[in-house]
Amino acid sequence: MASTPLSTAAAPSQLASGKNCVFAPSRGLLCKVPKGLGLGRGERATCMATSISADRVPDMGKRQLMNLLLLGTLSLPSAGMLIPYAAFFVPPGTGGGGGGIVAKDALGNDVVAAEWLKTHGPNDRTLTQGLKGDPTYLVVESDRTLATYGINAVCTHLGCVVPWNTAENKFICPCHGSQYNNQGRVVRGPAPLSLALAHADIDEGKVVFVPWVETDFRTGEDPWWA
Ligand code: FES
Repeated sequence: MASTPLSTAAAPSQLASGKNCVFAPSRGLLCKVPKGLGLGRGERATCMATSISADRVPDMGKRQLMNLLLLGTLSLPSAGMLIPYAAFFVPPGTGGGGGGIVAKDALGNDVVAAEWLKTHGPNDRTLTQGLKGDPTYLVVESDRTLATYGINAVCTHLGCVVPWNTAENKFICPCHGSQYNNQGRVVRGPAPLSLALAHADIDEGKVVFVPWVETDFRTGEDPWWA
């Protein structure tokens, strides 16, 4: 298709009307020439893009400012969504120092040692919520004091929660019959290991479970759970 430079005799608005023109990236704006401009049939005129004067080009400072504003506009909502998402994976607050967590009773209330001992007698073992939400026995010694350790109730065989059997003075797993003595040491399989321990400290009157990383006093071995 032949093209001819556009005569300046016609007004640009007249020549560049939408129906008559088409833009080709490599060839610029191609327009059908209105009758009377002296071009042959089927010929198109090529409009050379009018250059933008230098004083109308946004300077780099403004561009950078606009980019920063755009970045800030996008970043704030994104951060607002990401922070709660990340917080979902962080364990809930402990309420105690050194990675400990306040023990919770069956109703989800903090366990207050003095109150607990009013209602739990000697040799009592009652489940509370411990580290990582694991069911953990709080132990009352025969002298009516709280033991300095709690016993994780998750069976080391396949993970059933092991109930305390007062008559037998043992923990007996209902799933496959494993047995643990009154301190949680395994005495009959198929469970391969003793129940895990946690420190049971008192902090401002409340029982706080803290990870047990020292030697297992029941076996004299390193803790398998640490
Ligand atoms: S899960 Fe406790 S004995 Fe199998």
